[in-house]
Amino acid sequence: MNHDKRKILVTSALPYANGPIHIGHLVEYLQTDIWVRFQKMRGHDCYYVCADDAHGTPIMLKAEEAGVTPEELIERVGVEHQRDFSGFGIEFDNYYSTHSAENREISELIYGRLKDGGHIDHKIITQAYDPVKNLFLPDRFIRGTCPHCAAPDQYGDSCENCSRTYSPNDLVDPVSALSGVTPEQRESEHLFFKLANFEDMLKTWLADNDLQAGVVNKLNEWFDAGLHDWDISRDAPYFGFEIPGEPGKYFYVWLDAPIGYLASFKNLCNKTGLDFDEYCSPDSSAELYHFIGKDIMYFHTLFWPAMLHGAQFRLPTNVFVHGFLTVNGQKMSKSRGTFVTAETYLQHLNPEYLRYYFAAKIAPAIEDIDLNFDDFQQRVNSDLVGKLVNIASRCAGFLTRRFDGVLSEVYDDPELIAKLKAAAPAIAGHYEARDFARAMREIMMLADAANQYIDRRKPWVLAKTDGSDDEVQQVCSTGIALFRILMIYLKPVLPEMASAVERFLNCAPLMWRDVEQDINGREINPFKPLMRRVEAEKLEAMINDSKSAEQSQPAPSTPDDEAIASHITIEDFAKIDLRIAKIIAAKSVEGADKLLQLNVEVGDERRTVFAGLKAAYDPSQLEGKHVVVVANLKPRKMRFGVSEGMVLAAGPGGEDIFLLSPDAGAASGMEVK
Ligand code: MSP
Ligand code: ZN
Repeated sequence: MNHDKRKILVTSALPYANGPIHIGHLVEYLQTDIWVRFQKMRGHDCYYVCADDAHGTPIMLKAEEAGVTPEELIERVGVEHQRDFSGFGIEFDNYYSTHSAENREISELIYGRLKDGGHIDHKIITQAYDPVKNLFLPDRFIRGTCPHCAAPDQYGDSCENCSRTYSPNDLVDPVSALSGVTPEQRESEHLFFKLANFEDMLKTWLADNDLQAGVVNKLNEWFDAGLHDWDISRDAPYFGFEIPGEPGKYFYVWLDAPIGYLASFKNLCNKTGLDFDEYCSPDSSAELYHFIGKDIMYFHTLFWPAMLHGAQFRLPTNVFVHGFLTVNGQKMSKSRGTFVTAETYLQHLNPEYLRYYFAAKIAPAIEDIDLNFDDFQQRVNSDLVGKLVNIASRCAGFLTRRFDGVLSEVYDDPELIAKLKAAAPAIAGHYEARDFARAMREIMMLADAANQYIDRRKPWVLAKTDGSDDEVQQVCSTGIALFRILMIYLKPVLPEMASAVERFLNCAPLMWRDVEQDINGREINPFKPLMRRVEAEKLEAMINDSKSAEQSQPAPSTPDDEAIASHITIEDFAKIDLRIAKIIAAKSVEGADKLLQLNVEVGDERRTVFAGLKAAYDPSQLEGKHVVVVANLKPRKMRFGVSEGMVLAAGPGGEDIFLLSPDAGAASGMEVK
C-alpha cells in the first residue's frame, strides 16, 4: 500500500450554465467522483473542484429569451446543477462559477502574462453578422444548406447528414438561426493566441507524461496538421469578461472556462486557508488532473497547457479523456425517452444503481460507453442485490437474534478472509488506473466466493440442527467480515450504502487500510435492507417522463440537434394556415442582396412579405402571379420593415428557386389543403 501522502487536485469539465445535467454528463462526474473518493479513502490530500461555465453567446441569448438577466439565469441553473450533483452523491470540495471575481482576476493575470510574453496577436477578420439581432454569429447560430450533400437546415460548422465540416462561408443560403435573415459579412479586429509558439513545450509535455494512447495519437495528428493561432476575443454584446485595454472586446468563453478550474480552487483556498501556490505554481510537487470528454480534448491538451506554461503556472499531470454515452446502443434521444436528465432519473431510481452500472463499464480507454436499460436492471439486481447485499442479509439476522449482535472471537474460514484481504493492492491498482470495470469484475468474483462459502456452510441449517452455537456464530461472523471487506472495496462507488453499512457495523468511516483490520468480538446493529431491486415499472416511468418532458418544454434556444431532427406531428402541421395569395407589387429592397419586398393580396387583405427571391426572379415577372403563403406566421420585424407572412418556394437556392404557383384559376385567399 502506498503510504506516501500525495497532494492531488482534480477537476471535471465545467458544465454549461444553460441546460440541465443529464445522464451523459454523469459519465464524467461519476467517474471523477469515484476516483476522488478512492484517493481520499487512501488518505491522500485530494481536492475535487468544479464550477458552472457561465459565459458566452448561448447563455446570453437564453437569458434574453427567458426575460431574465444572464446573472439571474446562471444563478438559477447553478443551484439546479448542484442539487443534481448532490443527488447522485457527487461530492465537490468546491463548486463555483466562472462568472466570479477570482476568475476575472486570474484570467486577466494569465492574459497579461501571455501578452507580455509576446503570445498575443491582433488580426482583422471577417465574420457573419446578424443585422437584426445586431451581433456577430457563432457558427452554431448560422444555418443553411450543406455545401457537400445539399441537406437543408444544417449548422454553420458541420452537417448532420453527411458529417462533414466546413466554414460557415461555404454554407449555401446561410440564414441566422436567431432572426432568419441572411447574415452579412462584417470586419472586426480580434485577438489571437499564438499557439505555435508552444509547439516544443507541448511536445515535451506529451513525452514526459503518461497520457492515454488515444490522446497521444490525436496530439500527433494535430502537430502534423500544424498549430494555428486561436481567436480568444469576441465583440460586444457578449456575456463574459471585458479584455483589459480592449474596450468592447471580451474574452471568448473558452479562454476563461479552464481558468475557472484555478478560480474555483483559489476560492476554496480563500475559504479554508489551503495554499494555492503549493498546488499551482510551476515548482509544485502536487498532482493536477482534468477529467474531460473526448469532444473538448483540443482545448485541454493544446490551448490549456500552452496558456498555463505561457503564464508561469504548473502544467497538468494528466488529462483523462472519456468517450460518450449511448443509450440502448444509440445517441441519447428525446423522442425515444433516452435523453434522461439527472432530475428525472432521481425521481424514479436510486442513484447508486447508476453509479455502479457506470463503474462496471468505465475503462481507461476513450471509448463510448453504452447504457442498456435491460442490462442495467439485470446487472444491478444480480450484482448488488443478489450477490453483495445477500451476503449480509443471510448472516446478520442470526447474530442479532441469537448472539445479541456480537461477532465471534475467531473466524470459521480465515483463509477466505485472507484471500479477500489479499486482493486489496490489485483492486487499488485498478481504481488508480481508472479501470473501474476491472475493479468491479474482481470485486464481484470475490462476492461470488463469499456466497459460495455461505451456501456451503448453510448457517440456516446449522442453526436448526445439531450445529453448535459457536459454529453458527463463527460462520455468520465470517460472512459479515467478508461483506465488510467487499464494502470497503465498493465504497468509492457506493458511498450511500457504505455509510449505511458503517452504521450497521457500528464503525468509523471506512478507509482503504481498514481492510487489514479484523472485527472479531465487536457488536453490530440490527440489519436493515440496504438496497431494493430495480423495478421494470420504475424504469419505464422514467423513460416515459423523459419523453413528456420534451413535449411540455419550449424549444431550446441553443440549437439542439434532437429538437431540429425530430418530426412534427400532424397536429403541428395542421396549425399552418396555407393560402393562395396574389402578388400585387414587387420591388427590390435597398441594402439587401437577396430580398424582394412583395405586396400580396390574401382574400380581402393586403400584406407585406419579404422573400429571398431576388436572384431567381425579376420583380416585374412577379406582379399578378399567384403564390402559396403561410398566412398565420407571426409577423417578424426585419431591418427593412415588418414581414407579415412567408411565400413558399422550392429549390436549392440562389437562381434556382421556384415559386409554388397554383393554377391561374385559383382565387386569392383560398385555403390550400
Ligand atoms: N463548458 C464546457 C466545458 C468547459 S471545461 C473548462 C462543456 N460543457 S458541457 O456541459 O457541454 O459538457 C461537460 C462535460 O460533459 C464535457 O466533458 C463533455 O464531454 C461531457 N459530456 C456531455 N455530454 C456527454 C455525453 N453524452 N456522454 C459523455 N460525456 C458527455 O463542454
Ligand atoms: Zn452534408
